Amino acid sequence: MSDRKINFHIQKSSLRRFYNYGRQLIEQDDIDAVLEVLKSDRLTQGPYIEKFEEALGRKFGAKYVCAVSSGTAALHLTGLALGWKKGDIVITSPITFLASANCILYSGATPDFVDIDKDYYTIDVNKLEEKIKDYNNKNKKIKAVVGVDFAGQPCDWKALRYLADKYEFQLVNDNCHALGAKYYGSEKYALKYADVICHSYHPVKHITTGEGGAVLTDNNKITEKVKILRTHGNVKDFSLFTLHSSLEQGSWYYEMQYLGFNYRITDFQCALGISQLKKLDRFVEKRRTIAKFYDHEFNNDIRFIIPNVKKNCKHSYHLYPLQINFDKLSNNVSLWRGIKGENFSRNNQIKVEFFKKLSKVGINCQVHYIPVHLQPYYRKNYGFKNGDFPIAEKFYEREISIPIYPSLSNKDLKYIANTIKSLLS
Ligand SMILES: Cc1ncc(COP(=O)(O)O)c(C=O)c1O
Repeated sequence: MSDRKINFHIQKSSLRRFYNYGRQLIEQDDIDAVLEVLKSDRLTQGPYIEKFEEALGRKFGAKYVCAVSSGTAALHLTGLALGWKKGDIVITSPITFLASANCILYSGATPDFVDIDKDYYTIDVNKLEEKIKDYNNKNKKIKAVVGVDFAGQPCDWKALRYLADKYEFQLVNDNCHALGAKYYGSEKYALKYADVICHSYHPVKHITTGEGGAVLTDNNKITEKVKILRTHGNVKDFSLFTLHSSLEQGSWYYEMQYLGFNYRITDFQCALGISQLKKLDRFVEKRRTIAKFYDHEFNNDIRFIIPNVKKNCKHSYHLYPLQINFDKLSNNVSLWRGIKGENFSRNNQIKVEFFKKLSKVGINCQVHYIPVHLQPYYRKNYGFKNGDFPIAEKFYEREISIPIYPSLSNKDLKYIANTIKSLLS
């Protein structure tokens, strides 16, 4: 197709359309659930928080759950409850949202990264063991690993658990992308391997509470600490009081024993969460159907690399990370204006133009993620640089997250896939 024809085809079929890479699906029963709480006496610190926590515990096989105000808050409090402190080394993947790494900084610990597996984009367990051995050779131990089930694909949790036992470190699953995923047939896999798991219920995730998150664990001590830190570090249980412990106190009495935060989630958010959780399986199934459509559209085309799925996993497709093989695009691709430069800059220029054109026709893609170690803060304070994690950096160069969420129709999907293919012709 000529440029003019492509533009005409895209413009004609794009009238009034707008597609984000992800979005929530709120139905009437979700709205009713929220309204009920809004009309009640307690908007926050009421009964829906525990109800939501219980429902999460049942769904994900966790003995103890603490719902909080965001996934970031969940990770922050997890690090504190696990006792991370200055001098501890905590490792995560560079291909993740900032929060998976920032939670290490919040506790004063030192962050480090291990490159991703080239086929599945989760932390490379062989490289992780090499890194641990390097530390051991310098008489250093690592404190914890935050595994990220990137895009909805579980990490190699069996290997991570094995390493955690062998080298005695704590294992956290940043499970924010992977609600509804399965590992060796189990949807409750996360706590079979990790000591703590963290969720996010941001609107682009599988289910939403607006903002929100949770810490799930089988360890009561961790949940107790997280619950105290969620509300300013205040203790209300008289058996834990350190002052006046022998005297009965009034009902107003509390003790601030730690420096905590206000990371509470509201009751109306939890009512929404309870309603949404019932739909998780349906939402994830729809995401899988969309992924199958995209797989079919972009497979066997040298311009694209579709996301692989590990043998014993069922992906839950928070994201559909499509990679564009920019190196294989001809220099005649209409998006390249022929400005000379290094390979990366040519590819980056095409990607920038590609995003602009997509956005003009109502398709708002994203890139997940700029490798965390390349962020100025991490470079400046921890000395990371280009080339430190080459697989992650190459993945970043190629990746685009294309729209995937339950309300997309077949017509929408065809339009999105055709537009992407036409723009890259
Ligand atoms: C992998 C990962 N971890 C943590 C978070 C933080 O979650 P929240 O946005 O709810 O704070 C996100 C959010 O996008 C995420 O993608």
